[in-house]
Amino acid sequence: MKGKTPAESKTIMTDMVLPGETNPLNNLFGGELLARMDRCAAIAARRHSRRIVVTASVNHVAFSRAVPLGSVVTVEAKVSRAFKTSMEVFIDVWIEDRESGSKNKANEGIYTFVAVDETGRPIEIPELIPETDLEKSRFAAALRRKQLSLLLSGKMKPSEATELKALFMEE
Ligand SMILES: CC(C)(COP(=O)(O)OP(=O)(O)OC[C@H]1O[C@@H](n2cnc3c(N)ncnc32)[C@H](O)[C@@H]1OP(=O)(O)O)[C@@H](O)C(=O)NCCC(=O)NCCS
Repeated sequence: MKGKTPAESKTIMTDMVLPGETNPLNNLFGGELLARMDRCAAIAARRHSRRIVVTASVNHVAFSRAVPLGSVVTVEAKVSRAFKTSMEVFIDVWIEDRESGSKNKANEGIYTFVAVDETGRPIEIPELIPETDLEKSRFAAALRRKQLSLLLSGKMKPSEATELKALFMEE
C-alpha cells in the first residue's frame, strides 16, 4: 500500500456559530464543537484510508478560548500518524476576526479513528509520511499517545506501554 502525506488528508470546514448552538454565556457549546471536530477529522481519516472510518477515541481536547456567538469558525484536520488499522488525527480550531480577517487559534483536539470493512472489522491502512517539522513532531509523539489511550481504556497493560515507561524514565 502506497504511503500518503498529511497534506493528502487535510480537511478544512468553515461555519458560523448560530444561537441554537451556544451555552448561557452565548459561547459555542462544547459538545457542538466536539461534533464539528469529529466530522472534520472523520473526513480526514477517510481521505487517508479511503475506507469507512469510526471514531475509536477522543484522546485530547483543549477548550483554550471561548468561541462567541456569530464567530466564523474554521476546523482543520489532518492525519498525524497511521498505525496498522488506526489513525491519529490532529484538529486545530481557529476563529476569524471580523474586521482584519486574521485567524486566531481557539482550540485543538486529537482523535483516533479506525478503518473498517463493511462488517465493521478493522482493516489495514496506508502508512503516513510526515513532511513538515510540525508533522514530524506530531508523528513522533503519536505512539506514546496511542499507548496512553489504550492504557486508559483498559486495552493495554502498564507493563506493555513501553513508550510511556521511556518517557517517565527520561532524566
Ligand atoms: C473502534 C473499533 C473498530 C475497534 O475494534 P476492536 O475490535 O477493539 O479492534 P482492535 O482491538 O483490533 O483495534 C483496532 C485498532 O484500534 C486501536 N484502538 C482501539 N481502541 C483504541 C483506543 N481507545 N485508543 C486508541 N486506539 C485504539 C487498536 O490499537 C488498533 O490499532 P492498530 O490496528 O492500528 O494497531 C470498535 O471498538 C468499534 O467499532 N467501536 C465503536 C466505534 C463507534 O461506533 N464510534 C462512534 C462513536 S458512537
